Amino acid sequence: MRVKILIINGPNLNMLGVRETSIYPQATLEQIIGAAAEYKYEMPVKVDHFQSNHEGGLIDRIQQARGAYDLLVVNAGALTHYSIGLRDALLACEAPFAEVHLSNIFAREPFRRVSVLSDIAFCVISGAGEASYTLAIIAGLNLLKKKSKEKKK
Ligand code: DQA
Repeated sequence: MRVKILIINGPNLNMLGVRETSIYPQATLEQIIGAAAEYKYEMPVKVDHFQSNHEGGLIDRIQQARGAYDLLVVNAGALTHYSIGLRDALLACEAPFAEVHLSNIFAREPFRRVSVLSDIAFCVISGAGEASYTLAIIAGLNLLKKKSKEKKK
């Protein structure tokens, strides 16, 4: 059975490749997600992707993901720093999620160092650039493996 993974990207991440290339990767979102989906993980995965510039669209997609995915990987973009709606949607979804930032948010403006998602994420990956989503999936698969071992005990 394949592990079902949903990658979610928020506002402005569709602009990767042209957006602030001194801070963000020069690759496009499609290229980065394509590489994460094709990576040879230690177990079979099915990776779906959703990007929206709209908070409501992201919340709708997260609501639909409840019970349908084993793992979420979320780069909420600027919404990370203030969207309680997104936080509540992720809590209601109940699937473990990794919070991802391509840039190192802790080395940027003070308002970016605040996340309303980090304390409910199972991990935070920040500053790993193009490898970010792949690393988040590797960490998520390890978590699922650990959880299933604990269940069997
Ligand atoms: C980001 C960091 C956020 O502060 C910013 O608003 C983004 C992208 C990142 O991937 O580094 O849009 O989440």
